[in-house]
Amino acid sequence: MPPPTPLAGYTSYKGLPPLAGLCTVEEAARPGLSVEECVRRLKRFHYCFKRLHQILTARITAEPIYELKTGFAHHAYLCAEHVTALRTRIGEMREPPLGLEDVPHPALEAYFEEIQGNWNTEELVLGAYLHAMSVLDTAIAKYMAETNPLTDAPTCRVLRFARLELSDMKKFGEHAFGCLVDDEVTAVSRWLNACLTVAGGLDGTAPESGTVPDRFYSKKPYVYDPIPQRDERFSDPWNQGVNAESFLYNPAYPARAKALMMLYKRLREIDVPEMMASIITQTPGKPWGYYRDMTRQLWDEARHAMMGEVGFVALGVDWTKVKITLNWSHRLNTECTPLERHGVLYFIEQGLMPKTGKRYEFETGQASELPLIATLQDFDWADEVLHSQIGRVWYVPQFGSLKESLDYGDAAWSKVLSNWATVKEQGLTKHENWWPAVYLMACAAEGATPDAQVMAFDETYEGKRADLQRIAGE
Ligand SMILES: [Fe+2]
Ligand SMILES: [Fe+2]
Repeated sequence: MPPPTPLAGYTSYKGLPPLAGLCTVEEAARPGLSVEECVRRLKRFHYCFKRLHQILTARITAEPIYELKTGFAHHAYLCAEHVTALRTRIGEMREPPLGLEDVPHPALEAYFEEIQGNWNTEELVLGAYLHAMSVLDTAIAKYMAETNPLTDAPTCRVLRFARLELSDMKKFGEHAFGCLVDDEVTAVSRWLNACLTVAGGLDGTAPESGTVPDRFYSKKPYVYDPIPQRDERFSDPWNQGVNAESFLYNPAYPARAKALMMLYKRLREIDVPEMMASIITQTPGKPWGYYRDMTRQLWDEARHAMMGEVGFVALGVDWTKVKITLNWSHRLNTECTPLERHGVLYFIEQGLMPKTGKRYEFETGQASELPLIATLQDFDWADEVLHSQIGRVWYVPQFGSLKESLDYGDAAWSKVLSNWATVKEQGLTKHENWWPAVYLMACAAEGATPDAQVMAFDETYEGKRADLQRIAGE
């Protein structure tokens, strides 16, 4: 029998939880990692989350499948939040200069470049979710087992949250992967594993051995694809045949039908993440707070689209019969600079703030007597107020005054909004009026008699911008 340790006889007062509930005295009495080693590993975790954020963001635009597009928007945002938390924590650990923009190991750089280079969706899901997130989670678990839970409690807290969301993301990835492929893509896995061996494991705690295998997908540097893609449920993507704002702001129409039109406006917002992903990806060198805030906004816009989806489903409408255009994101991404795109976004969002904007949409939602629509518009409004603040922090200060910043966005927008006739002439769309069919579907689901005036609505975006201002020169 070994002699009892001094710890064995130690008890807290009246058996109360010791050490503020962090851990047992035994656990806290084991020495842990040094501050230097903690920082070294945390920088690797930070790098992983940062690269995952960049990879998922850059993929949003050209990913055709809506469920993945919105999933990438969500997970890019979660990764951005963990980057922020890790940067803050590393900054608390006796570590200036932080060196947070450095690559911790060239093999890790290769690892993520290879994942980003995958043009095939299945392989991207495999690399980012099944591989990278999984090894990152394992490395974080190892860190938490080895660090001292009392001395390093602030890091453990940050990492606990990270593991929670990594677990959600991994589940999403595994589920998605299972839906996408029949055979496992093992070559990618083998390549990534070999790369990690060179890096001494993701956290650098294993011996480094070998050399980075020949690049497979990342032989050439990654090039961002700015062309938005949609899956086959989004038919007629150039259709601008139903002017939602014209209907919404016309007092002659009933709130119930306007609720339906607002759901169209929400779902159509899927073009905002497609466009914002291009701004984030093509605007290097900003402080990290820029990427975090812009990614939050991107994720909100993806949620707004999903609110539209959910609303249509709840009202018994097959949303694939609604024509969701990609004209806006396509043209901004291909004809404007990233700053011009940001200007357009800010200009539009400022236009949503007055009484006729988001408040009106919320009140219309209430007037529709459909509680779900009121909830969706209530949060949509709150999110837009936040976006306006984000614009004031990151967009407006690049100009001499608020007016200059708005004029810049206004001008950029006018530049890209006059192709109604062009896309028709090119045979890309007939601008079919899909509204009566969708309205009829909602009436049928509700058992309501269609309103003849609502059925007859037939105004397009010809010659109009979405804020009802005439296009310059018309
Ligand atoms: Fe939005
Ligand atoms: Fe917004």
